[in-house]
Amino acid sequence: MMMLLPLRTVLQRSVSRSCCRGFSVSPQTYNSGKKGLILGVYEKDKEEESLVFTSAGDTFDNVVSGKLRDHLTRSGSLVKKGKTRIFYGLHEDFPSVAVVGLGKKSAGVNHDEHWNESKENVRTAVSAGCRQMQDLEIAHVEVDPCGDAQAAAEGAVLGLFEYDELKKKKKKVVSTQLYGSHDNEAWQKGALYAEGQNLARYLMEAPANHLTPTKFAEVLEQKLGKVGSNVKVFTRSKTWIEEQQMGAFLSVAKGSDEPPVFLEIHYSGSPNAKESPLVFVGKGVTFDSGGISLKPSSGMDAMRGDMGGAATVCSAIVTAAALKLPINIIGLAPLCENMPNGRANKPGDVVKARNGKTIQVDNTDAEGRLLLADALCYAHGFNAKAIVNAATLTGAMDVALGSAATGVFTNSSWLWTRLQEASIVTGDRVWRMPLFEHYSKQVTESALADLNNIGKYSRSGGACTAAAFLKEFVTAPHWAHLDIAGVMSNKDEVPYLRKGMSGRPTRTLIEFAARLSKDKSST
Ligand code: BES
Ligand code: ZN
Ligand code: MG
Repeated sequence: MMMLLPLRTVLQRSVSRSCCRGFSVSPQTYNSGKKGLILGVYEKDKEEESLVFTSAGDTFDNVVSGKLRDHLTRSGSLVKKGKTRIFYGLHEDFPSVAVVGLGKKSAGVNHDEHWNESKENVRTAVSAGCRQMQDLEIAHVEVDPCGDAQAAAEGAVLGLFEYDELKKKKKKVVSTQLYGSHDNEAWQKGALYAEGQNLARYLMEAPANHLTPTKFAEVLEQKLGKVGSNVKVFTRSKTWIEEQQMGAFLSVAKGSDEPPVFLEIHYSGSPNAKESPLVFVGKGVTFDSGGISLKPSSGMDAMRGDMGGAATVCSAIVTAAALKLPINIIGLAPLCENMPNGRANKPGDVVKARNGKTIQVDNTDAEGRLLLADALCYAHGFNAKAIVNAATLTGAMDVALGSAATGVFTNSSWLWTRLQEASIVTGDRVWRMPLFEHYSKQVTESALADLNNIGKYSRSGGACTAAAFLKEFVTAPHWAHLDIAGVMSNKDEVPYLRKGMSGRPTRTLIEFAARLSKDKSST
């Protein structure tokens, strides 16, 4: 049981205020070696008079003899959705208490927005509270499950992530744990989902001179080495790629001095070793300069994140293995740089993919589809129950949907439904896009080869012609291509992610795999 505190002066501050007027004691006095506590509060429904705490909030308020309610009410009681207020000195064990706004208790699934708003609200509120604690340099924080321990853990772990590995001055480490003893399993699950996404963010944010194809494979080998013996990692070299006759992938890789890698991961979690696997494929261009069709230099640094497809699918497998999901998953990641050296692809060059189809490379900056063509051919050798590829494939995807949702091009309504259901839960949304014959016609007309790597009307429907190109390498009945170029990075659209590479939609991929592992009818 928690100790009751003698009455103390309570210091309160709204986070939106930048100055410290009204403080008689510096917050640091309370912080040394002490814990912080984050508690949720709902927005009042009109007819209700009093504040609506979460059950953890109620418990805490009882322990402090109603003082939290008292102070909140006296100060106007409003804690808006996603905003925080800090109270100092309420309880000896928790010198700093952040009250975070959860919005309406009745929110639930919002069918217009295609996501679970309650879960999003919890993620946003908890992440804001955790960051506030981090700014106050409080090292240990207990978190109210806010009615959804998984979402709370996701908010905490995602909200605190920052890539500062290469800086001397780093953000203070904050350890978070669940307040109260319930729902620990859901909390742990949320932490693993978020750590999966953070691994993808880490890989995407890392500069291209640090995160080469070789290094990418090493990081994954190291991460997967920790999760158990039922994971095998094959780091295929250039010689293997040549033997496989992956001429399209190789044509991109040879434009760089950095050797390519074809990373192949096998996670065998199903009790039935022979069960058909889910196959994930991810575009792994560790830097995309555009090649001879060179990109403009402004903003080119963001192309270190052009391995986001590989990062998200591989990170999802790391989490699937950590969760011990009863499913077999194979991850395939063609990794290379797209650079303009003397051996680089030239516009008009014709290359041959693994399945024998020839491709006229009219634009060397449409390289992702060349890597994926070969990887998709290879993916067909595993009798997959579904093939899902992710790629930061086209700027046109960003033009179409921005960062609201990942574009999904699929030949399977069964697969679409499962991806969409998963994304409503995770809040990392997907939106279905067309695979019309209309677009296929535009890539199957080529002066010199079977296919052209850009659409006939180059800019129009660019995300759709890219998807139509990939479809030329697919015969499997359940395939989905996720164009994640629009969701690659975050400015401030997703409030529980800081600015930078987003690692989206890793959690949706994990949730999708988790649901598939329970759905035995799908085998
Ligand atoms: N990596 C880019 C796509 C991209 C753009 C990802 C912005 C993330 C943010 C891709 O390789 C590319 O350059 N695509 C071209 C295709 C075009 C030449 C048909 C594009 O989108 O302009
Ligand atoms: Zn690219
Ligand atoms: Mg490109």
